[in-house]
Amino acid sequence: SGHTFPHPPGRRRWMKDAHSMDPERPVQHILEHHRDLGPIFEIVVFGQKFVFVTDAELAAELNDEKRFVKANSPALEGLRGIAGDGLFTAHNDEPNWQLAHDLLVPAFTKQAMQRYHPVMAETLDELFTVWDAGDGRVDVGADMTRLTLETIGRTGFSQAFGSFTTDEIHPFVAGMVTALTLGRRKGVIGALPGAGFLERRLDRRHADQLDYVRGFLDDIVRSRRTAATTGGDDLLGIMLDQAHPVTGERLSDENIRYQILTFLVAGHETTSGALSFAFYYLARHPDVLAKAQAEADAILGDDPDATPSYEQVPRFRYLRKVLDESLRLWPTAPGYARSPRETTTLGGRWTMTPDDWALVLLPLVQRDRAVWGEDADCFDPERPKPRLASTAKPFGTGERACIGRQFAVHEATMALARILHRYDVAGDPSYALTINERLTLMPEDFHLTLTRRTPGA
Ligand code: HEM
Repeated sequence: SGHTFPHPPGRRRWMKDAHSMDPERPVQHILEHHRDLGPIFEIVVFGQKFVFVTDAELAAELNDEKRFVKANSPALEGLRGIAGDGLFTAHNDEPNWQLAHDLLVPAFTKQAMQRYHPVMAETLDELFTVWDAGDGRVDVGADMTRLTLETIGRTGFSQAFGSFTTDEIHPFVAGMVTALTLGRRKGVIGALPGAGFLERRLDRRHADQLDYVRGFLDDIVRSRRTAATTGGDDLLGIMLDQAHPVTGERLSDENIRYQILTFLVAGHETTSGALSFAFYYLARHPDVLAKAQAEADAILGDDPDATPSYEQVPRFRYLRKVLDESLRLWPTAPGYARSPRETTTLGGRWTMTPDDWALVLLPLVQRDRAVWGEDADCFDPERPKPRLASTAKPFGTGERACIGRQFAVHEATMALARILHRYDVAGDPSYALTINERLTLMPEDFHLTLTRRTPGA
């Protein structure tokens, strides 16, 4: 836009630090080295300006829907090549956002969740079959990714990925990872001279994989269209068959492909990371683990194969707190960008125009010591709710907040409950948490040793 964001005090200092920006692990780098630079600061990477908000007071302002709206950060904008105007990457004023939103909200109602529940439970059973046949050592990130990908694929699209029958990564997943990585690179190089050339070269180098992804999405649509039983009230059925109740409009084939990709990606990586971080903290905190297992036993009883009913899942209150506290410390979607509707002053000091955006950097906002206290970095699922606790928003905010929140919470709570009910889990005491930052955050090389337990004993 050419507009210069007002420089916060301390800019000189970070100008020096900015040279040490770590493109492979930007969030962790800021957490380790720029913690004191708040409440707002900017970093210029390849000529592109990133404005970060790390302070809960300012985040609360940015969350105010009357003054601010979602913006696409360069990282999100870079995904438009593969996700187009799908729900996640659509601009606020693109007609397909409202259309798809209105059509798909019914796919996340309580009734819809009740339909997904048995599929979620079955998918978990398949993971247990694999685990019971193995040696007990489990790559947590990989297996949680299998579970969540299978779950969104089956519940949303009747599409299984064979995650439990092979060690290979499904080519669609490999292709998505390539596409995501490309998207991120494009987001970064987008402002460079000759970016178009570089982007085309990146695309050409990965053309086969990207073609495979496109073909796979087309097959999902084609096989449902030609299936003996069309219709269906899952995500795919709704998108293919339903018209907007007021306008009568339908989603185009192109947009449906964007939505499938969006849901397959948004619907699994973040949940898988959230589960993985929760297991990391459970393994590190024996007292928390014991309490969580006691809760699982109290609700599920003595049968290690017991599965909760739909209605029982919200009763795992303590597990829900474990999940929330994990998402406070490591929100797996680490931020969201906001722009003012009209020129406004942030924090009474910084002018922002509608061309500006600022990224709410959740891992810092949710550890703001002014709000959470000196032990903000500690894992404590039972910490009292402080003032401004509402700025802990791992699922985003406002109209563009996560449409899959209930889905993720239901899925993750049930998985935690049943896994802890069925197995004792032990981490490797020498494991030091390392986090892979792709588009989402995910513990890397984190393993657990599982042993079957006798619930209630
Ligand atoms: C949006 C986080 C699970 C689908 C978002 C946003 C966040 C988020 C922060 C807002 C992004 C922004 O403002 O730019 C998470 C986390 C999850 C999770 C932490 C798991 C723990 C899911 C699941 C689904 C899903 C399971 C689908 C089944 C979406 C979609 C959007 C979205 C479609 C875009 C909504 C819109 O703009 O209309 N998510 N999400 N997410 N999420 Fe999730």
